[in-house]
Amino acid sequence: MCGIVGYIGQRDAYPVIIKGLKRLEYRGYDSAGITLFGGAAHVLKTKGKVTDLEKLASTHASAGATLGLGHTRWATHGVPSDVNAHPHTSNSGKISIVHNGIIENYASIKKILTENGFTFSSDTDTEVLVNLIEYIKLSQGVKIGEAVQISLSQVVGAYAIAVFDVERPNEIVVAKLGSPLAIGIGKDEYFIASDASPFIEYTNRTIYLEDNEMAVISRKKGFRMYSIVGGEALTPNIQEIQLSLEKIEKGGFEHFMLKEIHEQPNAILDTFRGRLFVEEQQINISGIEQHLDVFKNVDRITIVACGTSWHAGLVAEYLFEDAARIPVEVEYASEFRYRNPVINKGDVVIAISQSGETADTLAAVKLAKEKGAFVFGICNVVGSSIARETHSGAYTHAGPEIGVASTKAFTTQLTVITMMGLRLGQLRGTISKEAFDRVARHLVELPKQIGNLLKFANQIKAIAEEYKDAANFLYLGRGYNFPAALEGALKLKEISYIHAEGYPAAEMKHGPIALIDENMPVVVIATNKGHYEKIVSNIQEIKSRNAKIISIVTKGDESVKTLSDHVIEIPEVTEALVPILSSIPLQLLSYYIAIMRGCNVDQPRNLAKSVTVE
Ligand code: M6R
Repeated sequence: MCGIVGYIGQRDAYPVIIKGLKRLEYRGYDSAGITLFGGAAHVLKTKGKVTDLEKLASTHASAGATLGLGHTRWATHGVPSDVNAHPHTSNSGKISIVHNGIIENYASIKKILTENGFTFSSDTDTEVLVNLIEYIKLSQGVKIGEAVQISLSQVVGAYAIAVFDVERPNEIVVAKLGSPLAIGIGKDEYFIASDASPFIEYTNRTIYLEDNEMAVISRKKGFRMYSIVGGEALTPNIQEIQLSLEKIEKGGFEHFMLKEIHEQPNAILDTFRGRLFVEEQQINISGIEQHLDVFKNVDRITIVACGTSWHAGLVAEYLFEDAARIPVEVEYASEFRYRNPVINKGDVVIAISQSGETADTLAAVKLAKEKGAFVFGICNVVGSSIARETHSGAYTHAGPEIGVASTKAFTTQLTVITMMGLRLGQLRGTISKEAFDRVARHLVELPKQIGNLLKFANQIKAIAEEYKDAANFLYLGRGYNFPAALEGALKLKEISYIHAEGYPAAEMKHGPIALIDENMPVVVIATNKGHYEKIVSNIQEIKSRNAKIISIVTKGDESVKTLSDHVIEIPEVTEALVPILSSIPLQLLSYYIAIMRGCNVDQPRNLAKSVTVE
């Protein structure tokens, strides 16, 4: 987590860095800070958001600096506070650092530094690192670049760092291990950021540093890249990235989350466009086509992911087992990586991640590779760490998702998963032509159907108004709708802070039914495919305990309607695609409830979009 930004060139660095930090606030927003150098270095930092930093800066001179570093924080070591905010400076005040990651052995390094006379004012691991760099620089008589390199060889953990030393006023040193770092190359100017969004209006020429790579970026000598481990010079791989400014701005919507909910028709279209050919019964996902033997002969698939992406993995479990008859296990990446999982050569591990940077999922990918698995990534962010680390994969093409709550990332993940299920079933001869045709035809109808569902946002708003003060919510579904229920509950709790649980509907009577009374709203996904009669019985059980029932039903349904307090209709689609459609009203319900409770939907408390710490 945390976002870092840097600039060195001819422009006024302050506005470049502030704008960049605002774009990176999805990575953390509990404190923010900046170092500016224009003859002398000054550091400004504060608890709060980038707008709080701007207020602070308005009382200081910030113009005229042509070099700067900035940081927006998601706290790991030390509470959010002014003193724990980055940049951190060394004891001499000469070296500044911004850091995204965790230095795991900071306590032992701090002890050695303290014994050597260093003092610390914050609780952070980062302040230890900047002082280690100073200690090495002074004790070994080396320049800042070498001091960074030597220091990092003593560090255990993860980092993307940018370092500035007033004694080298034309240089910024950057390094990466585990956390992402992109460098934008302009004409006689360089931009540094956790992703490319802070600099897309200036340049599309980008270098994504790989793990164990560092660079010295100099106004005079240009860009030099080195290996952190051996110190040898490396040749940079400059890419021309395609990212439009329009896509990372709100485009007239009040919040990114609402914009992203409304982007789903186009996002899903972009996901299957050029890959799904209905009449030809053809699916062309190059990451599969290039490895047909792997998928044809696979004995089992393990899916690793976190949060919403894990819910998408559960849908994949139902679909791959059903359509391709492959046994599938879905694991929380954080559990998988710390067990001793049985993964054999020939196994396929699928990692699902919107950001492609989630630390636990990335570590699970590395572990699976070590154990000989073929690893396939389903990521949204192009060029992200997981996308690069996997053997092959498929991008979701959802476009940038800025709101912390995942919306279009989820439905586009499900779109990729549906295409994969069909292709694997076809490849292994386990899906009939009729079933393939049915699912494929329904899939291409989704953008239009979602567009229509979004027109009923006011109906959902009225339901939100009625339940916005509830203390708890229960979400129930069976079969493919069970993961959809989990996702609905996660959406509500993360942005409205209402306690919500998702359950398989039949599991309710094994415990959660004890919670039900007239104050408990229960959202039931009760569409007509799959286990309809069973879920109708479950609704009866809830009804007889006086809960308020909000049902998502197939258009035209009558039975569930008579049992429910509110009914939201979705079009009839094949069972595997119901989670995509049922997600839309559930996203809107969470959004409106959160807004009515005065919550910050795009930046909910304690969360960050990209969880790059374990
Ligand atoms: O970027 P990833 O898909 O790997 O992120 C995983 C989770 O952190 C993420 O889905 C999280 O649960 C969302 N905030 C849910 O809306």
